Amino acid sequence: MRITSCRAEDLDPIEEVLPSPSAVSYHLQRYARQVAGTSTFLVARLDDDRPAGVCEVRWNGCAAPEVRAVVADCPEINGLHVVEALQSRGTGSALIRRAERLAAERGRRLVGLGVDDHGNPRAAALYARLGYRPTVRYLDRYSFTDDAGVEHPVEEPAVFLVKELGPHDRS
Ligand SMILES: CC(C)(COP(=O)(O)OP(=O)(O)OC[C@H]1O[C@@H](n2cnc3c(N)ncnc32)[C@H](O)[C@@H]1OP(=O)(O)O)[C@@H](O)C(=O)NCCC(=O)NCCS
Repeated sequence: MRITSCRAEDLDPIEEVLPSPSAVSYHLQRYARQVAGTSTFLVARLDDDRPAGVCEVRWNGCAAPEVRAVVADCPEINGLHVVEALQSRGTGSALIRRAERLAAERGRRLVGLGVDDHGNPRAAALYARLGYRPTVRYLDRYSFTDDAGVEHPVEEPAVFLVKELGPHDRS
């Protein structure tokens, strides 16, 4: 398995295996943030180049004011998703490790991610195993646009988890 940053030509294959919930492509939005320099959009690929999973490292951190008030200067790993048939093979862990390495190489000392700790216990257990600690509860606010073009705001209770990076995370 290889992990690289997303290229424009990767977007259709990613959309095919991890479809966005509406006509507005989440992956295109992530790619646009990478082009703007505020994110790195990572793609894990199988040996035949098919995408197996993705995540976005948001260098400006979590947008929620509750998180920003408590954890300053902490890039956020967002939108971690592995193709269902390919889960439990280490892909999610490898994407997180790569994000941590990129953060350490940029001299960042913390990295964090949000999880719905009641609704997603498997992901929460994985993050705990990888050294992420619950730091602040917040409302994850985002919106999605339905196929008719109507935008729907969403608010979901979440916990922001933080990990301290050390020198070993650069290698
Ligand atoms: C959460 C998620 C990203 C984890 O991805 P993953 O690729 O399955 O993660 P990993 O394989 O690294 O680790 C998960 C499991 O595989 C095991 N594992 C890790 N490396 C492994 C390997 N080389 N071989 C077999 N199993 C392995 C882990 O022990 C862990 O065990 P579990 O299945 O009991 O939880 C994935 O389940 C997913 O996309 N879920 C849907 C979207 C989602 O919830 N995203 C998170 C939002 S916060």
